Amino acid sequence: MLKLLSGEILKKKTECLVVPVCEDAEIHDDPAIIGLTENARKIKEFKGKNGDSVVLYDPADSKSDRILFIGLGKLEKIDEETMRIFAGKSVKLLIKKELSEIILCAPCTEKLDLKDDVALGAIFEGAFLGNHIFDKYKKDKKEKPLKTVSVFTDSKIAKRQRLLPSRIETICKGTNLAREWVSMPPNDKRPDRFVRSMVKAAEKEDLSFSILDEKALKQNGMGAILAVGAGSRSKPRLLILDYNPFKNKKSPKKKKTVVLVGKGVTFDSGGINLKPSGSLDEMKMDMSGAASVAGTLITLARLKHKFRVVGVIPVVENMPSGDATRPGDIIKSYSGKTIEIGNTDAEGRLILIDAMAYANKMFKPDVMIDMATLTGACVVALGEKIAGVFSTDMELAKDIVASGEATAERCWAMPMPEDYRKLLKSEFADINNMSSNRWGGAITAALFLSEFVENTRWAHIDIAGPAYSKKAGDYCGAGGTGFGVRLLIDLLNRM
Ligand code: BES
Ligand code: MG
Ligand code: ZN
Repeated sequence: MLKLLSGEILKKKTECLVVPVCEDAEIHDDPAIIGLTENARKIKEFKGKNGDSVVLYDPADSKSDRILFIGLGKLEKIDEETMRIFAGKSVKLLIKKELSEIILCAPCTEKLDLKDDVALGAIFEGAFLGNHIFDKYKKDKKEKPLKTVSVFTDSKIAKRQRLLPSRIETICKGTNLAREWVSMPPNDKRPDRFVRSMVKAAEKEDLSFSILDEKALKQNGMGAILAVGAGSRSKPRLLILDYNPFKNKKSPKKKKTVVLVGKGVTFDSGGINLKPSGSLDEMKMDMSGAASVAGTLITLARLKHKFRVVGVIPVVENMPSGDATRPGDIIKSYSGKTIEIGNTDAEGRLILIDAMAYANKMFKPDVMIDMATLTGACVVALGEKIAGVFSTDMELAKDIVASGEATAERCWAMPMPEDYRKLLKSEFADINNMSSNRWGGAITAALFLSEFVENTRWAHIDIAGPAYSKKAGDYCGAGGTGFGVRLLIDLLNRM
């Protein structure tokens, strides 16, 4: 689907040539493309401003059927995210025109002060992600994704970056996989089915897996996962996806194990502390952490990543019923600590701590990262586009924030103040799953998790905001965003 192209641009036969144009500077170095941009600037309604676009049909000087000019705005504001948006917008616009094959002209990376792989990678990402359409549940599939997007660049760069398109495609497929799981309706992804769907995808790759069913969860004493799943007729599972490039070799090159834990609540009604009906339908997205972790593991296997990464994914449905866990109940977690249920809607932290304690014991990881749509409070703090990062390890938090910048899956480091711990005190059990005060809910949730990680290097990423979007973005449709896959892949590559 993604291709690199070079040579003589005016001789390329294509349904559409797309040329980005900057408002206050020339960003191309190919004389033929510069000629085209000069033509575009003569059009009165096109100034190259951010948001400007114009189409020329049957242009005399080119073999393409049409040329689409896209304004990028001022040069100093252009960065790699501008490239993703440019590519994503172009693809979405041309899908509407029912095309199937297009060429995007990459700007001269030197003029943008970006590295070749960064700028081209971003164009490919925007194009591939923008081309994803989730229409499984529609009879009338109106829009068809493009078949081929080529990116035109200088021949030397094209040669050096020849492996880039397939790598980006692999990573973005992981994002799209996560998006589809998140957007899937909750009646089609109750725990057993969702787990089987993840296993089905994993089986095709070099991944081993195991599933703990209800009986195994009981045998292992995973009281927290079981308590959250108690109200649903679809019983909880714990899925382990293990990517181990050294399972058949004696001496690994990189002796390191990273565990990724993903919250998999296939529907969060709140349980007996039932949520108000406002946007209850969106709570099908409460398994986004699980989707991103599974998408990441599948991607790592496809990329033949250099060290072992294990995905530990607790999957439950949080429902009210006669069997549901009550506020006031005291349960015993896998770690042995008892927990008073202050609120059945604070269920994510319960399934995570059983998974994390189990992962610590079984895999003794060097680093553990959990990803979860954990709190509405995190969305209040950082808005819908930015994830909260919580860690007592500043290095790890810094790396995650840096990966967030590189992938535009933005993350912001949040504090974990020791004196807030007392808010989780329980009169009757070792800890309460609910803070005794209503403020700083994202922080107290993270502090709750931290009680169960012992000395492992650990970070928690709260993706309650960015995991889902009611509205389509520039290179994402409405629904699951797949947030976290590109972030984690980038992070694991830094390790
Ligand atoms: N799944 C929710 C968090 C959430 C909220 C995700 C909005 C996405 C969008 C989580 O299980 C939850 O209900 N959290 C409660 C915690 C509270 C009861 C301590 C919350 O945020 O209100
Ligand atoms: Mg909840
Ligand atoms: Zn939840």
